[in-house]
Amino acid sequence: MENKVTLTYKNGEQSIDLPVLPATLGPSVVDIRTFSKTGMFTFDPGFLATSACESQITYIDGDLGQLYYRGYPIEQLAEHSDYLESCYLLIYGELPTKQQKEDFVRVVTKHTMVHDQMTRFFQGFRRDAHPMAMMVGVTGALSAFYQDSLDINDPEHRRVAIYRLISKIPTIAAMCYRYNQGLPFQYPRNDLGYTANFLHMMFSTPCEPYEPNPVLVKALDRILILHADHEQNASTSTVRLAGSSGANPFACIAAGIACLWGPSHGGANEAVLKMLDEIGSVENVPAFMEGVKNKTHKLMGFGHRVYKNMDPRAAIMKETCDEVLKELGLENDPKFKLAMALEKIALEDPYFIERKLYPNVDFYSGIVLTALGIPVSMFTVIFALARTVGWISHWNEMISDPAMKIGRPRQLYTGSPRRDYVDIKNRG
Ligand code: CMC
Repeated sequence: MENKVTLTYKNGEQSIDLPVLPATLGPSVVDIRTFSKTGMFTFDPGFLATSACESQITYIDGDLGQLYYRGYPIEQLAEHSDYLESCYLLIYGELPTKQQKEDFVRVVTKHTMVHDQMTRFFQGFRRDAHPMAMMVGVTGALSAFYQDSLDINDPEHRRVAIYRLISKIPTIAAMCYRYNQGLPFQYPRNDLGYTANFLHMMFSTPCEPYEPNPVLVKALDRILILHADHEQNASTSTVRLAGSSGANPFACIAAGIACLWGPSHGGANEAVLKMLDEIGSVENVPAFMEGVKNKTHKLMGFGHRVYKNMDPRAAIMKETCDEVLKELGLENDPKFKLAMALEKIALEDPYFIERKLYPNVDFYSGIVLTALGIPVSMFTVIFALARTVGWISHWNEMISDPAMKIGRPRQLYTGSPRRDYVDIKNRG
């Protein structure tokens, strides 16, 4: 029997049947597309109860703290997979065969260089520009350099644009850092893996050989896997909305990067480090916590719109954090100790327990990235690098759907009723 919800006006004059669409996992949704026939719209700022699309890419169970990419638990991918394999999975929906993986890695690796004129594009930025400011601009500029993959209705153009983005985003990210530091750009090295090559482009100099530490490469690769997708978060929804107008994929990803920059989203790990610096030492934690409870400030890296349990990425990140600090002999790092003290107090405090506020992935990722030598201003850039595959997979899923429509929300208007123009002489 068809499942439906019937909405009836209080006066009983009008009623409307709304179908209920089943989900493979998680809650079913009420299909309200015909609701506007009643002459009204629904109201849901912040999308607290609204599914904006149908998707087969990522599933989150916020109550149980579970995250699956294409059905595979994040814990299994973090342990057994690598970032590029996870990219393939997100884009194509299945884990690759050995041959498919080799082909994918080869094509991505061969396209890591950017158009040489892009190096001059950077000269237009101030040296002290925030790397995210450059990321937004330069990623958008890819559409000016790669004009032969902009036809969103051509699956081959889409495929090429997807490969270009995954291949070139680490190069652009490293260039943002190098420009900001006054260092020469480093060309990619095709003999290195995706993540090791990124570390090479970030940290090697023309003066001496550079061999990335395999433990640190593995840790960063895991960070990339953990951040690769997170279903319909703010930046992914931004990419979908931008893409729904037919905008080209490079412009859409630039829009996603802009949204990610905010401290409530991708900027949170940067905010965690700033917060740890402000607190300074463990003795200051009680006073800081009082401020959190009085709502003077938030405990950054805690809380999540969807997870009302431990963020599964946070548990993996904590383990990675231990491994990296051990490898680098930083177990007694004061920032890590301070973070652990904050975490312990928060997990036992009724303010956080009652509100179901647990550490999210950003609580630990900033500490790991710092240990890897990555400056705070690059944290969100690394997040953008990792999330590009998620954004582009969602964009591709949306564009491939024949039922795609431009995203056009409605509003509850509470402004002035109609009024007539008043000449400036007569205004009070
Ligand atoms: N510190 C202190 N109180 C908090 C925090 C926090 N980090 N997060 C939520 N609360 C309180 C909030 O004040 C509210 O209290 P009350 O019920 O008394 O008004 C209650 O918890 C519910 O919070 P909310 O703001 O309604 O929750 P939300 O779903 O709108 O916000 C959030 C989610 C992630 C924006 C928020 O938890 C937050 O700002 N956290 C800190 C920033 C952060 O770590 N962001 C990274 C998110 S994970 C990375 C990603 O996926 O992008």
